[in-house]
Amino acid sequence: MYFFTGTANPDLAKAVAKALKIKLGKVKQELFSDGELYVNIEEDVKDQTVFVFQSGKRKNKPIIHRYLMELLIMIDALKLLKPKKIIAVLPFFPYRRQIEKTESGESITATLVARLLKAAGVDRAIVLDLHEESIIKDFDFPVSHISAFDLFVKYFKEKKLPNLTVVAPDEGSLVRAKKFSKALDIPLASFEKSRDRLHDVVAKMEMQGKVDGQNIVLLDDEINTAGTLVEAVDRLKDQGAKDIYFACTHPVLSGPAAIRIKQAPIKELIVTDSIAIKDTDKNDKLKVISVADVLAKEIKNLK
Ligand code: R5P
Repeated sequence: MYFFTGTANPDLAKAVAKALKIKLGKVKQELFSDGELYVNIEEDVKDQTVFVFQSGKRKNKPIIHRYLMELLIMIDALKLLKPKKIIAVLPFFPYRRQIEKTESGESITATLVARLLKAAGVDRAIVLDLHEESIIKDFDFPVSHISAFDLFVKYFKEKKLPNLTVVAPDEGSLVRAKKFSKALDIPLASFEKSRDRLHDVVAKMEMQGKVDGQNIVLLDDEINTAGTLVEAVDRLKDQGAKDIYFACTHPVLSGPAAIRIKQAPIKELIVTDSIAIKDTDKNDKLKVISVADVLAKEIKNLK
């Protein structure tokens, strides 16, 4: 088998390769003078199973389209070398949030990306904590949807926090939070949230459940602008919550996220390394758990 990586999150790719005890496949990447990408796969992958890894964003350069295009060009270059099969490993699925049309004239970008992957030559994909799992049924190739869930369960089991309640910040997180409440045998509370979608602004948040005097873990799939975190923490504090932990898989950390996290009265923000975090966004509250072993395990299953 071969394992190649794009340039979005090389640290995680290296950690996965290490867990698999293999070397990263050699690939040359250059930029033409007009800005177009040049890719050359420098391995003989004929009749081999090939894994191609890409994340959505990297340190200092959040250019999501560029990484998607890089991935598509790598897949196409690999396909032309006639491997047995190509499996895309996508710890952070680009354009993940647009999963349906809410107005006429919009695109469904998550399925558009799936069609692009298929057209480039992908036979299968491994994805991590998708924003919405149901979207997989519209993909034209098999998908292994894996999760960082068990890593968070382990983290909080080891912490042994007293009087801990898990809170779902919105309806989308409720299933995950219920499962977490069962796994740790702790109470569950939740918010009903609505937002001004285009501007990433949380418009409404209403609390269901008891949080007074409790330590809290908020569980979400991602933290983007940290608007959800700020709104949830404000309400939880107003209602007498004690220490607040926010755990989510994907540290998207766009726009005002870093400053909001710094100012928010939270004890810890626990994320994974699905996306590389800028050094300037790192601080004492931020704890990063690696998903390298989780990805490596699924790769081993499929090789
Ligand atoms: C929304 O439905 C998601 O599950 C997250 O809650 C959301 O993407 C977080 O975004 P932000 O940090 O900008 O509030």
